[in-house]
Amino acid sequence: MTHKKHSDWQSAEFCKKYLSAVNISTGDVHYGISSPGERRLRLMGKPENLRGKNVLEIGCGAAQNCIALSKAGAQCIGFDISRHMLKEAARLARRNRVRIRLLRGDAKDLCDILKANNVRPKDMFDMVLSVYSAGFICKNACDFTHFLGQIENCLVIKGTFILCLPHPKIEHLQGLCREFTETIFSINAVMECLLFNGFNVERVVEQYIECPAKMEKEGIENYPFLLKNHCASKTQKPNSIIYVARKS
Ligand SMILES: C[S@@+](CC[C@H](N)C(=O)[O-])C[C@H]1O[C@@H](n2cnc3c(N)ncnc32)[C@H](O)[C@@H]1O
Repeated sequence: MTHKKHSDWQSAEFCKKYLSAVNISTGDVHYGISSPGERRLRLMGKPENLRGKNVLEIGCGAAQNCIALSKAGAQCIGFDISRHMLKEAARLARRNRVRIRLLRGDAKDLCDILKANNVRPKDMFDMVLSVYSAGFICKNACDFTHFLGQIENCLVIKGTFILCLPHPKIEHLQGLCREFTETIFSINAVMECLLFNGFNVERVVEQYIECPAKMEKEGIENYPFLLKNHCASKTQKPNSIIYVARKS
């Protein structure tokens, strides 16, 4: 696990820079840059099964995933530390005419903050999602174990946790990605922590940046997270990794 200085999500300027560099769909759940989303990967099961499900997204940013899930009939809470990202999330939700609840706080205190907002965390959520956020929330294995413990506490038995992280081999990426200073977790560390916290890991999916010409042709409909300045990959290494885990 490596960690450098953390990116500053409390800074309006930093958030503005991030938001202006990305093009993220509110019509499909994304799992990382320039890669297929939920419509293609089907990690959440049948789309109709999402109707009425309670979903929590941790580090939701501008909440595009919450919005996509709300459109599919889920009841979503988006949780994030940054008031600037949440302001954008509220604006996007209004524009998409969906109702999502947005809560602000540090995910290290997730359960306490949920309780303070009258959300009884214990066994509350059918699904918890963390896409590109755990590396900003957790500085080390100890933080990560604590983070997973809180998520386990929030989930119903057999509830799903989907964790999408930059792949440990992401170092090859350039451009915007280089500006993120987050903790990079080894696959072994993630697996160990998930198992330690009582999760069964059902799938591990490595995402590769697909052919730029194909992405340009198919666009955001098929690639729900695109960078405005394409983050070119010189090699065929994966850029993100998704763990689909279930509370046992
Ligand atoms: C790279 S963005 C990803 C946002 C969103 N999940 C997406 O995929 O577009 C990381 C997000 O994590 C949030 N974040 C960072 N540290 C956090 C913390 N300690 N608690 C809650 N959210 C945090 C940031 O504010 C930011 O919105």
